[in-house]
Amino acid sequence: MSCRGGAMPVGAVPAQKGDDMEFDPASDGMKPPGLAHNVYSSLVTPRPIGWISTISAAGAVNLAPYSFFNMVAGDPPAVMFCPNGSHADGGPKDSLRNVREVPEFVFNLCTYDLREAMNATSANLPSEVDEMTTAGIAAAPSVKVRPPRVAASPINLECQVVQILDLPSPATDKNTMVIGQVVQIHIDDGVIVDGMVDWRRLRPLARLGYFDYADLGEVFTLLRPA
Ligand SMILES: Cc1cc2nc3c(=O)[nH]c(=O)nc-3n(C[C@H](O)[C@H](O)[C@H](O)COP(=O)(O)O)c2cc1C
Repeated sequence: MSCRGGAMPVGAVPAQKGDDMEFDPASDGMKPPGLAHNVYSSLVTPRPIGWISTISAAGAVNLAPYSFFNMVAGDPPAVMFCPNGSHADGGPKDSLRNVREVPEFVFNLCTYDLREAMNATSANLPSEVDEMTTAGIAAAPSVKVRPPRVAASPINLECQVVQILDLPSPATDKNTMVIGQVVQIHIDDGVIVDGMVDWRRLRPLARLGYFDYADLGEVFTLLRPA
């Protein structure tokens, strides 16, 4: 699938808002007439990607991308990611199974350069497979938690799980939210310029809908009102 709007310059949407397409997701689903694919993940964009490493009680490392991810608090710092649905072999996804066994995880920032590696870790693999080794991704030890970090990722947040919430779910699958408190932070010196994280050096990958992603476009500053 190619990127939608490829020929249209960014921002070249019609000035006048058109009629609304309206539907109820519970009764109409996410692909009502007029839409070619499930539309939901295109409705809140761009989203950050939580590239989450976890470890099972038996020591199998799992690494998987989650775009139902975000920071949720600053003091103390907390983040969340949402394993939705089931593992291909049935039961919970490995990340969820792991945090139930070892309630710790690491957020690894996915950069543009790491996009292929990140995508490879979304493959369905048996629970006992070490996904970092299989995908050829070098691991670095964490300081306060057992799951390792992605060595090539410029930002890692070591997290301790504080809560696992059950979300409204279909009969067959379970949707959940895993909330973690950030207990150790790693920032690559190379992305700090004049005491600030430099977005150009960081080049974080953003998740759009369908199979589309975005690199950073123009970056500008907007001060808050007094
Ligand atoms: C960019 C991207 C974002 C994803 N976001 C989510 C997500 O938020 N929740 C989810 O359950 N799966 C998400 N997936 C799919 C999981 O990464 C995939 O199911 C993976 O195998 C996780 O399962 P595991 O924890 O069993 O390894 C995403 C995949 C990609 C490529």
